[in-house]
Amino acid sequence: MSLKGKHIVLGICGGIAAYKSVSLLRLFVKAGAEVQVVITPSGKEFITPVTLSSLSQKPVVSEFFTANTGEWHSHVQIGLWADAMVIAPATACSMGKMATGIADNMLVTTYLSMRAPVFAAPAMDFDMMIHPSTQRNLKQLEADGVKIIEPESGELASGLSGRGRMAEPETIFKTVEDYFANKEELKGKQVLITAGPTYERIDPVRFIGNFSTGKMGYAIAEEAANRGAEVVLVSGPTSLVAKHPGIKTIKVESARQMLEACREYFDNSDICIMSAAVADYAPSCVMEKKIKRERDDIDEIKLVKNPDIAATLGKEKQDGQIMVGFALETDHAKENGESKLRRKNLDMIVVNSLEDAGAGFGTDTNKIDILFADTRPALHFPLKSKTEVAKDILNTIQTLSPLQ
Ligand code: C5P
Repeated sequence: MSLKGKHIVLGICGGIAAYKSVSLLRLFVKAGAEVQVVITPSGKEFITPVTLSSLSQKPVVSEFFTANTGEWHSHVQIGLWADAMVIAPATACSMGKMATGIADNMLVTTYLSMRAPVFAAPAMDFDMMIHPSTQRNLKQLEADGVKIIEPESGELASGLSGRGRMAEPETIFKTVEDYFANKEELKGKQVLITAGPTYERIDPVRFIGNFSTGKMGYAIAEEAANRGAEVVLVSGPTSLVAKHPGIKTIKVESARQMLEACREYFDNSDICIMSAAVADYAPSCVMEKKIKRERDDIDEIKLVKNPDIAATLGKEKQDGQIMVGFALETDHAKENGESKLRRKNLDMIVVNSLEDAGAGFGTDTNKIDILFADTRPALHFPLKSKTEVAKDILNTIQTLSPLQ
């Protein structure tokens, strides 16, 4: 049981879904976890600390001090003790405080002291959920590394119907359980990942590039690090920032720089995942000065072929190393994917088609097929968030023979 002996801080905020936290607490306790409940003052209006402390076998923490004894409750100690913090329900108010660091209660203060991963299961009315303020805070929390357990659609306490219901306790429990189950799977493995576009300079202010945002590669890097891998992420220009301490990010601009950075880490890598959208061509020379608008037409910008990073490394692949490529296709996805798989000496290739709505550059979702170099049949996956797609990709990589 992956949660046996784990220390879980269960944060409960003041929302009607707090009654479901009792079931969640029971699931954690039944799985052998030790649970410390931290509740906001308004949380206590919805659920009594006596119920929670009876089930968790620990006093519930809510105030900074116990009034009659003056005993101080150390949020720092709780932060150090925890293997995970799970905030369920996470209300709009508490998420706003967490996103901006307003530490005026024990729950938010504990959150700020937390070194372990934090999961939050938002619960609120539909209109509150879609409000730009809530959406902004959710984005900020995600950027800060909080794992949001998506709310579900259905009947709400207000009588309205829509998205905002807290995920069911079983779903929250499973998310945390999976996190710990996967945590060790790539322990000791070195994973090299390329992500994002490359920019090929024309002059000091212009470049040839593409619309890749790097979201897929960054999601894979986060997931591999969550599973215990040491990750080197060689990233083209993107606004994304990898949060996990297990990820070393190397920022590059051009394809040549990307190849150079990859070469440095390739020999020691167990798994290489080439998800970057590398420009196939670069201007043969970079203008020293900015090309002026007054100039007459530019007849041509001569382009030269860039190195194919995946193919170059694929040629040097040693036994036991796994190489994974990507193919973003506009047509004949399967045939083109298969040909790239062979040409680049890959073990598997992730194919996505721009013909599928929600797949490809810039979106938060992707729809993939996976083709293999060995005889096994292709896998087809439905449209999913890129975080979920990253899990599917790593689950599949883990079935390849060098990792068995
Ligand atoms: O040939 P194509 O660009 O479609 O191949 C895509 C795969 O090859 C991706 O895995 C991509 O990261 C990789 N690639 C590369 N270097 C290039 C072009 C593509 O590593 N110059």
